[in-house]
Amino acid sequence: MKKYTEPKRYLISFDSRTSSHVFTDILVIGSGVAGLSAAIQAAKHGSVLVVTKDKIDENNTAYAQGGVAVVLSTGDTIAKHIKDTVDAGQGLCDTAMVKNIISEGPQRVNELIEWGAAFDTENNHLIFTKEGGHQFHRIIRAKGDSTGKEIEHTLIRTVKRNKNIKIFEYTFTTDLITKDGVCHGAIAWHAKKGYMLIWAKRTILATGGCGQVYRETTNPDVATGDGLAMAYRAGVTLQDMEFVQFHPTTLYIAGAVRFLITETVRGEGGILRNKRGKRFMPAYHPQAELAPRDVVSQSILKEMQKTDHTHVYIDIRHIPKERLYARFPRIREICASFGIDIAKDLIPVRPSAHYMIGGIKVDRFSRTIIKQLYACGEVACTGMHGANRLGSNSLLEGLVTGYNAGADAGKSIQKAQGELIPYTVQEFMGGSKISWLDLNDIGNSLKSLMWRDAGIERDERHLLEAEEMVEMWCSYVMDKEFSNPTGWELQNMLLVSRLIVISARERKESRGVHHRNDYPNTDNIHWKKHIMVKKSKS
Ligand code: FAD
Ligand code: SIN
Repeated sequence: MKKYTEPKRYLISFDSRTSSHVFTDILVIGSGVAGLSAAIQAAKHGSVLVVTKDKIDENNTAYAQGGVAVVLSTGDTIAKHIKDTVDAGQGLCDTAMVKNIISEGPQRVNELIEWGAAFDTENNHLIFTKEGGHQFHRIIRAKGDSTGKEIEHTLIRTVKRNKNIKIFEYTFTTDLITKDGVCHGAIAWHAKKGYMLIWAKRTILATGGCGQVYRETTNPDVATGDGLAMAYRAGVTLQDMEFVQFHPTTLYIAGAVRFLITETVRGEGGILRNKRGKRFMPAYHPQAELAPRDVVSQSILKEMQKTDHTHVYIDIRHIPKERLYARFPRIREICASFGIDIAKDLIPVRPSAHYMIGGIKVDRFSRTIIKQLYACGEVACTGMHGANRLGSNSLLEGLVTGYNAGADAGKSIQKAQGELIPYTVQEFMGGSKISWLDLNDIGNSLKSLMWRDAGIERDERHLLEAEEMVEMWCSYVMDKEFSNPTGWELQNMLLVSRLIVISARERKESRGVHHRNDYPNTDNIHWKKHIMVKKSKS
């Protein structure tokens, strides 16, 4: 077997002298809550181009259900929200970042409301609900269980009204263009327009997470970790990649995509039962069904193993039917499409990969270590979540960090006032274009491997097996030169999977969402610290 070597700098060969060129002051890659929030702020200072690989509203944001955690209700305080967030993060939160994000949250949410976001109200007052780990009712929602869609569409309307913002849909970014530690834009590809070099004074990565590296995931197909991979190839430091959050409850119907059953179902009184109909969470944690997510996911897994069953159930049959249907219209509709009436039937569920806590290390203004490059939202690691993320804290993080990235990028180009000067850049990959590879097969095998060996429960033997397998696939996939997103996404997923696995192997303890059966305790003496990964010079 060939020895593992670091990925090449770029995924494709190109030559700026023969490529088409696009110019913008600020390039935003990704159109979820973070990217669009950044674009709106940046557009106050210059021209903005938003590039997104699918249709504009195909992203994790649009699928978000439960809500946004924000301090707006009487009796709640910024200090209480900070405490809950930091407690969940198990010693690894950056408290200054937590404070910034939570303190700025109310302003960002009020702004969304001004732009037309319709959060659910009663007698003209926002309704607040509770999720695991929050000591207070502070989660606001929209249309019951369609919060993300409401936020995404509010932002899209705002972006589309703005003359300074252009949007390129179905445009896949393969890599960032960098020279001597400075980012000058990105290389992108569109099925009809071909390759283009997008030159930008500032570039903002808002490409979201990487749930697709796991067989079981709540994330849509676009979440393949492209931004994480392109940042790594460009020499950016990634932090905490071992911390992948698994959501306890996704609808389990064999053969169907894993649709999320929001935590607010448990917040409204949903009870978890095993195959024998027995409620089990009180035996695992005093907060029972509303224990932190890592505890609930691990407990479900144990019950599945104990009862030798593929899933457990959520029971909401005791809640009045009218209330249930009004509160969870989307979940009712999806379940009904599989013949499940949420008011009468148990809902089969099991955990899935949900959220990448780690990512590109950024500062308070979402700046990375590469000059002129920013990262915000799920692709970034702000330090807000530490080793475990509280439910509904990431839409908040996306709103605030997107705003800050856009504002800082915009202001900084005004100060610099420089013109864009494209330079000659060429890359000859030298990769073989002839491929006998079955990319779907490798992709599916990778997802199964990651689920089995680097999932909710981990240990040295399985992580080592995962590392060896991923490196073996890398050895014959990474040196190929593909000409469309299927190959590039696989290359990105392999790279990101390897970073998850090597970081998980390194962390020889259990903390937050990272649970090792061979090191079941938290070890504050040796491991109360972050794990960083950065491409070595090849
Ligand atoms: P995304 O919204 O994922 O957007 C990323 C964008 O980047 C996409 O538009 C994608 O197409 C684009 N992109 C990716 N790669 C490329 C590329 N190579 N070239 C061009 N474009 C690219 N959080 C909460 O706080 N509350 C909730 O209730 C909640 N519910 C959730 C429910 C589900 C089912 C899921 C999956 C997540 C949920 N989350 C929730 C998490 C939250 O939705 C995400 O963390 C957040 O929306 C991420 O926003 P983002 O803008 O960083 O990324
Ligand atoms: C959910 O609604 O359960 C998801 C909330 C989140 O991931 O923050």
